[in-house]
Amino acid sequence: MSAQILDGKAISQELIRDVRARVDARVAAGKRAPALAVVLVGSDPASQVYVGNKKRQCENAGITSLAYDLPADTGEAELLALVDRLNKDDAVDGILVQLPLPKHLDADKIIELIDPAKDVDGFHPYNIGRLALKMPLLRPCTPRGVMTLLEKTGIDLVGKDAVVVGASNIVGRPQALELLLARATVTVCHSKTRDLADKVRGADIVVAGVGIPNFVKGAWIKDGAIVIDVGINRLESGKLCGDVEFDVAKEKASWITPVPGGVGLMTVATLMQNTLDACEKRGA
Ligand code: GUN
Repeated sequence: MSAQILDGKAISQELIRDVRARVDARVAAGKRAPALAVVLVGSDPASQVYVGNKKRQCENAGITSLAYDLPADTGEAELLALVDRLNKDDAVDGILVQLPLPKHLDADKIIELIDPAKDVDGFHPYNIGRLALKMPLLRPCTPRGVMTLLEKTGIDLVGKDAVVVGASNIVGRPQALELLLARATVTVCHSKTRDLADKVRGADIVVAGVGIPNFVKGAWIKDGAIVIDVGINRLESGKLCGDVEFDVAKEKASWITPVPGGVGLMTVATLMQNTLDACEKRGA
């Protein structure tokens, strides 16, 4: 069997069209467009690409993007002062600090200073806590994007055995909370997990977010499983590849996300949704 493709391209475009229609309706009613502040410290090439994609989709969604491109040697006090200023600025609805930050900066401390109502990444402990307590407000973009991709494809998760490979704050942990909220039975695997292959073999749905090319072997995938690949790895050849051995996995899975063209596009589209949601929830 060859898997059907979970079409991140089509579904992300649909999401952005929906956001655009809601933004246009706001503007037609005399309100301002939502505004997203995007903070990039340094010149990590991958981060520059991601931030460029975010700004481009803001344009497509009718959202104002405000760029704060800071040098790599920006001090902690300076960055905290910028976040504080953006928190207080009523014309700013969303604040995104692109990760990873240079080593001398403490990402946890900076995220914790962002006003939770403007935390469109959903990384603030308040927003993660809300998600854990089944009362989500702003939800992390990648895991929320994965859930939207599944919902819009008509895939039901109730009672399914889900295995999340990777326990990062950006992907694995919030993804596990999202799957639990959708009433799947969730196992979270990490670098100390024993018998990873066996865990994956038992999964009806596998979400891989470890950042290692082809880490999840196609042979581990159960016949008919759903495979969600969050990895975006650049090989020496320049080609992009995911965390799952796609060519083998697609012969066993019922549904699979491609890389590129899968979850990455959903993450950015979900950021647009979150920014509009934050704007509306603030009553701006
Ligand atoms: N770096 C990798 N993914 C993300 C993300 O979703 N948000 C931010 N701010 N940084 C990231």
